[in-house]
Amino acid sequence: MTALLDIRNLHLSMHSFDGEARVLAGISLTVQRGEIWGLVGETGCGKSVTGLSVSRLLRSPPAEYTQGQILFEGTDVLTRTEAQMLTLRGRHIGMIFQDPTTNLNPSFRIGTQLIDVALAAARHDSAILGVPTGAGRSARRVAARRLAVSMLEQVGIPDAEARLDDYPHQFSGGMRQRVLVAMALIGRPGLLIADEPTTALDVSVQAQILALLKSMVAAYDMGVVLITHNLGVVSQVCTHVAVMYAGTIVESGPRETVLDQPLHPYTQALLRAIPSRDVARGALQGLPGSVPDLINAPPGCRFAPRCPLVRPECLAAAPTSRQIAPQHHVACPVVSEARHA
Ligand SMILES: Nc1ncnc2c1ncn2[C@@H]1O[C@H](COP(=O)(O)OP(=O)(O)OP(=O)(O)O)[C@@H](O)[C@H]1O
Ligand SMILES: [Mg+2]
Repeated sequence: MTALLDIRNLHLSMHSFDGEARVLAGISLTVQRGEIWGLVGETGCGKSVTGLSVSRLLRSPPAEYTQGQILFEGTDVLTRTEAQMLTLRGRHIGMIFQDPTTNLNPSFRIGTQLIDVALAAARHDSAILGVPTGAGRSARRVAARRLAVSMLEQVGIPDAEARLDDYPHQFSGGMRQRVLVAMALIGRPGLLIADEPTTALDVSVQAQILALLKSMVAAYDMGVVLITHNLGVVSQVCTHVAVMYAGTIVESGPRETVLDQPLHPYTQALLRAIPSRDVARGALQGLPGSVPDLINAPPGCRFAPRCPLVRPECLAAAPTSRQIAPQHHVACPVVSEARHA
């Protein structure tokens, strides 16, 4: 079966005055429809650049994809033309960005923004509006407005029709986040990438938005990459989790396996750093030591300088990710040997 998203050994460099920072050093991740992957890790480890790479939204330069593939339904997005990328972004890949200023334009009414996104998506697939192909401009606009109202209703915005005429500042933080979910899903994408979608919200609103995301994913049979600092978020909604460290994925697999039986020393350290070990409530804490400089990153495992299990071979070459159990991958020679012994 062709995977919805299959990132294979992706290497990404950022060029700057100081040199080449290898911000992604060979990450691999496979997402199927129905799966919600939590992408977790400390700040600066490459979560957002991974999400942005899938839609090829990083400016190049400074970004350069030096190796690997990003297969969306079997085709490498890195080899697509810009016109093909517009179709992908408009119709097949929904995004909620970390930076709130890039999400809703404060100068336009919510309705205008939703209708624009619906009309743009319908340029790639006219069935989205539910009007016959060749329908006139005003019929399409009416249909797009109807779709906007229905999406706002689906994400739980009361009095949706009237609220189309409001501006973003007239919505609460939680309601704005619901609008963003509606906007990301209005083109019926197969894949949703949501970068810290609930970080700015208080805990009860966060829980509502997460429940909403979960139900929409089930209703639309989507695959999701949910980027977050918060393991509580992961345990509430994710089916799978990938743990990033300094541009690498150190461990990935089904949520219960990774959170309950973590094998990589970094995953173990992260989980230990949560107060009272309450994964359901805990946010990721920083660990002692610091993340390596990615410009002159040493050749071996990027976690080696902070790792309690470090061995000489860890410093010589980057570890390859090994499958330990179905879907459970760990990039650490020490733990995989221990398991196979
Ligand atoms: N446009 C850019 N130009 C140069 N370097 C960048 C750019 N965007 C990100 N980086 C670098 O890439 C690395 C990964 O950044 P990224 O934003 O993906 O981290 P993150 O895991 O999303 O962190 P956070 O949790 O803070 O959002 C960092 O070292 C960052 O400085
Ligand atoms: Mg980020």
